Parts: sequence; structure tokens; C-alpha cells
Amino acid sequence: SRDIYLSRHGESEWNVTGQLGGDPALTARGRRYSRVLAEFVRTEFLEQGKPMPLVWTSQLRRTRQTVELIPTMHTCWRALNEINAGVCEGMTYETVAQQMPDIAAQRKADKLRFRYPQGESYVDVIHRLEPVILELERQRGSVLIVAHNAVIRSIYAYFMSLSRESCTTVEIPLHTIIKLSPQPYGCEATRYELDV
Ligand code: F6P
Repeated sequence: SRDIYLSRHGESEWNVTGQLGGDPALTARGRRYSRVLAEFVRTEFLEQGKPMPLVWTSQLRRTRQTVELIPTMHTCWRALNEINAGVCEGMTYETVAQQMPDIAAQRKADKLRFRYPQGESYVDVIHRLEPVILELERQRGSVLIVAHNAVIRSIYAYFMSLSRESCTTVEIPLHTIIKLSPQPYGCEATRYELDV
């Protein structure tokens, strides 16, 4: 059977400080996740005699470091990069609320359509993911996608037939793998919370 596995990258330096976007490296805990993830793939595929999945990541350091120990073919997609927070990149939600209250308010009012100045909206992200989803649907083997909060939310919402609005809120915690198994209608989702 062919499945789609989704995960955010391991914990990054900016997950700890609460800063948006950027290209930070993994923390020690995030690197631990990369080991546990590689072990998960080994048990799920190699030990079951199943062909290894393809691994697709963004072009950012934190996703590439997360898959580093998985011995299979890796592809980096620019389209899998995190939502571009434009002028808010590198800020925390608190600093945005204090220094750019209009932006915080507008985003709260319509998180799906709000486009960060010099950056993107969720609608923009959903559009740029179209070619990735098309390619994903054409694959005959399993694919593991390691990307980012807004991106994994959008892919998950698409395959689970959720509303576009729910892309902006569905919870995708760190260090969790979501396995999507195609069913006659829609997909079944199984979550694996890995201990790190
Ligand atoms: O905080 C991690 C992060 O991936 C940020 O880089 C990104 O801006 C944010 O999550 C997206 O989540 P939300 O749309 O809820 O702000």
C-alpha cells in the first residue's frame, strides 16, 4: 500500500525563542528527532521489507537536517518552504502585537487571506503547493514530507478534505508523524507522537 507521511522538522533554535520564519538550525532536541525519525522509517519500511519512501523537504536547513539520516532519495522543494512572514520574519508573536498591532489585528480577523507585507498569506501558500500535491498524487510509492507548520497544515487539510479556513488552525505539533492512508473516499490519518 502507498502512504503519505507528513511531519514538521525537528525543534529549531527559533521554535525555542518563538521567532517566526528564518533559516535556523535544529537544537539538540531537534537532532534527536532526526535520529528517532530515521529509526521510525527503518521499522516502518526496511524491517517490513517495503521499498523505502521518497523524502521531500523544503529548501530550509531545519527540514534538511531532520531527514539527514534517512537513506533514500531526497528532493528539496522551494514550494515546501514555510509561509513567508515578510516584515515580521524573525519577530515573535508578542513583538508583532506590540510593534505592529495593525498587522496582528488584520491577521486575527482573516488569517486565511491576510498577506504579511512583503510576504505571503495562507491562500498564497495553498496556491504554491498545487504542483507538489499534483506530483504527490501521481506517485505510486510512499512519500515522506518534512516541512513546516503552515505547509503541513495545508497539505493535511487538502488530503483530509477540511475547509481552507482550517488550514490556519489545525494542530500539527512538532515531533509527530501523520500517516495518510488513501481510502476509497478520502484518507485515514494515523498520528505517531515520537518521544524525544
Ligand atoms: O512558529 C513556527 C512557524 O512555522 C513560523 O515560522 C510560522 O510563521 C508559523 O509557524 C505559522 O503558523 P501561524 O500561521 O499559526 O502563525
